[in-house]
Amino acid sequence: MSSSPAPVKPSSDIHRAWWKESSVYQIWPASFKDSNDDGIGDIPGIISKLDYIRDLGVDIVWLCPSYKSPQVDMGYDISDYYSIADEYGTVADVEKLIQGCHERGMKLLMDLVVNHTSDQHEWFKRSRSSKDSEFRDWYVWRPPRIDENGTRHPPNNWVSHFQGSAWEFDEPTGEYYLHLYATEQPDLNWESPAVRKAVHDIVRFWLDKGANGFRMDVINFISKDQAFPDAPEQDKDAVWQWGDRYYANGPRLHEYLQGIGNILKEYDTFSVGEMPFVKDTNEVLKAVRYDRNEINMIFNFEHVDIDHAPYGNKFKPGSWKLTDLKSFFERWQAFMYNNGGWNALYWENHDQPRSIDRYVNAPQELRPAAGKMLATVLALHSGSPFIYQGQEIGMGNVPIEWGMEEYKDIDCLNHWQGLLKEKPFDTEAQQISRQEYQKKSRDNARTPVQWSAEPNGGFTGPDVKPWMSVNPEYSRVNAADQVQDPNSLYHYWASVLKLRKAYLDNFVYGNYELVDRDNQEVYAYTRTYGTSKALVVANWTDRQLSWDTTAQKMGNVKVVLDTYESASAAQGRFSGCQWTLRPYEAVVTLLEE
Ligand code: GLC
Ligand code: CA
Repeated sequence: MSSSPAPVKPSSDIHRAWWKESSVYQIWPASFKDSNDDGIGDIPGIISKLDYIRDLGVDIVWLCPSYKSPQVDMGYDISDYYSIADEYGTVADVEKLIQGCHERGMKLLMDLVVNHTSDQHEWFKRSRSSKDSEFRDWYVWRPPRIDENGTRHPPNNWVSHFQGSAWEFDEPTGEYYLHLYATEQPDLNWESPAVRKAVHDIVRFWLDKGANGFRMDVINFISKDQAFPDAPEQDKDAVWQWGDRYYANGPRLHEYLQGIGNILKEYDTFSVGEMPFVKDTNEVLKAVRYDRNEINMIFNFEHVDIDHAPYGNKFKPGSWKLTDLKSFFERWQAFMYNNGGWNALYWENHDQPRSIDRYVNAPQELRPAAGKMLATVLALHSGSPFIYQGQEIGMGNVPIEWGMEEYKDIDCLNHWQGLLKEKPFDTEAQQISRQEYQKKSRDNARTPVQWSAEPNGGFTGPDVKPWMSVNPEYSRVNAADQVQDPNSLYHYWASVLKLRKAYLDNFVYGNYELVDRDNQEVYAYTRTYGTSKALVVANWTDRQLSWDTTAQKMGNVKVVLDTYESASAAQGRFSGCQWTLRPYEAVVTLLEE
């Protein structure tokens, strides 16, 4: 599929940009803050918390989809790109939000979901109405395959990301349409110039309102191999197979991205692209290299797929080691730096479980320490850090005791329904899946933000039933307590982001090198700019341990941040050949010749 692209020249000179220096706070509107006691978070609720966000020291607020939507996939199924869902507010509210961000020196990033729309979008309603509709080719329609017995089959064997075939038969016109996600999320046909024009119009509409850029949903899926070939069989137990090689980073992707990139450039805004299944690094680079004018940075998936079973089986148990995680980081950190690309750094988002549970699984009393360690490691990597709501206070996964009725997400529920159908009496298989949902379901990220120890965690009124239950840990883990406590994770996040800016050359523009590669308990790396070298060392275990510093040439060590105490108090502990690290302790030092 990818014809060999022109070799990419490494960028020798350092390219500086405001978006490289920025960090981002991500908001999931339904669960952030409810302002009118209907149990659903909303835009006025977000506006009421802008000072809290600013005080964290972030530069950009990313608002997840808030457009009109039947909410089959929580707003990633848009039925009107020009209006806001009633439950969240109005376009005027978004304008106020943009203004509120700007007044506080922050920017607003909107979510652009244009691989697909909702099946309730006017475009799709018209498209499905007749083969002659002028909107017919706005979506991907193909005739059935008929076998020798005259039985109808989908045009190919691709699996949908939400289970089953990626094609749905539509009775009125006798053809199938493609949906890489839910049946209610038909894929747009980007081959049509009218579709591209319609997307450009949407982009301009929100930029004209003052939005500062877009996070682009599964943006590397928009160009598909027009032959729509069957995917090779990978998972022998599965009926439907991953067709990603025919739609991830497809033939016309760069042309399409430049179409949007040209508009973003006009407005001096920026974009971050979600790019699952990236394999060909040269293709990635063509999309993110700073002079390509496509997208500024990408989310890749290797480190968040780390606990999945093979063949994309997310809800089967998978295991990993610290060295696996380190090798993913090393690969992407070095790759982007050496080639003029840029990483979007994240542990969490609305599709991922909580990082303290996934990457650390610390005992109760050590969870805040673990959260600080994860904050340090992430934010001082090469790239722009993204913090997902609740991560700054260390919110955890849903309780293991929660029944299936508490889960709301289509990804998880479709899997559960499929399992019940396939193995109705296999209680063991059901039990295993239930355990995996508690570890990996997207619901883990979607419980309401725990603002205080009041009923419903202060997310909504005390007598209201929120759209999704609040995690009962709220009495112990909440924003009000942490804002009060100078030693909290919330304030620690603020100090890491401040440090990143204070040593911009090291932490934003410096070269990354992994230190002590084979160590399964400690993750250490350096960030070097000219002669200035910073060293980050993190104990990934719940035990105190001793780290042998001879792996790294030290010189004079100056502590600039520590997760347990002030830099000056910690200074005395970090000298000589053996450093003692407390459970989950992370320390940041400058090494002077
Ligand atoms: C992206 C979104 C996810 C959504 C999917 C389909 O992966 O992050 O939440 O379900 O795209 O739009
Ligand atoms: Ca509300």
